[in-house]
Amino acid sequence: MRIAVFVSGNGSNLQCLIDATKNGALQDVCIDLVVADRNCLAIERAKDSGIEVLQVERKKYWSEQALMILQKKKISLIVLAGFLSIIDERFCREWKNRIINLHPSLLPKYGGKGMYGLKVHEQVLLNNDKESGASVHFVTDEVDGGEIICQEKCAVEPEDTPETLAEKIHRIEKKILIASIKLLHAKTQSTD
Ligand code: GRF
Repeated sequence: MRIAVFVSGNGSNLQCLIDATKNGALQDVCIDLVVADRNCLAIERAKDSGIEVLQVERKKYWSEQALMILQKKKISLIVLAGFLSIIDERFCREWKNRIINLHPSLLPKYGGKGMYGLKVHEQVLLNNDKESGASVHFVTDEVDGGEIICQEKCAVEPEDTPETLAEKIHRIEKKILIASIKLLHAKTQSTD
């Protein structure tokens, strides 16, 4: 299965996917394209592994160009791994059930526009939640609103800070991202 990973930042989840394709944790999956909407470390990670990078301009209309390349490269799944631009309605429609996103909360809690990074964990602590976690879900034109594919919880301890919570959740994210891709890959195999 050929996948494209969309990034805006550090790219630790991209790195985890690259490693998983190399060490056999993700078999028969190839990262064929990385799309980045700004200069970021994730671009270096992609280039270091010889993956083609398409850099698009944030807030400009880039969908058409991306759609063409995705089709040309015969990509069958898009993974948003820390991608901060909104995917427009037409793009979501054309790629229905073929775009997944990683979110650092137990959706539908703490999702939606503006809910990203430490902001999510700050809210969890402010509300004294006893548990948090991460979710992988399908992308629709409702931000963080698509069907959930995989979710895993962790306990929120009294001594947690937004940073310690982020660290715990980052570990969970990597696990459920790989699990979700495996699941979707298995599904495509069974329908072929
Ligand atoms: C992840 O923690 C994910 O929850 C969110 O963006 C973050 C990206 O981290 N969608 P990285 O760039 O993969 O390190």
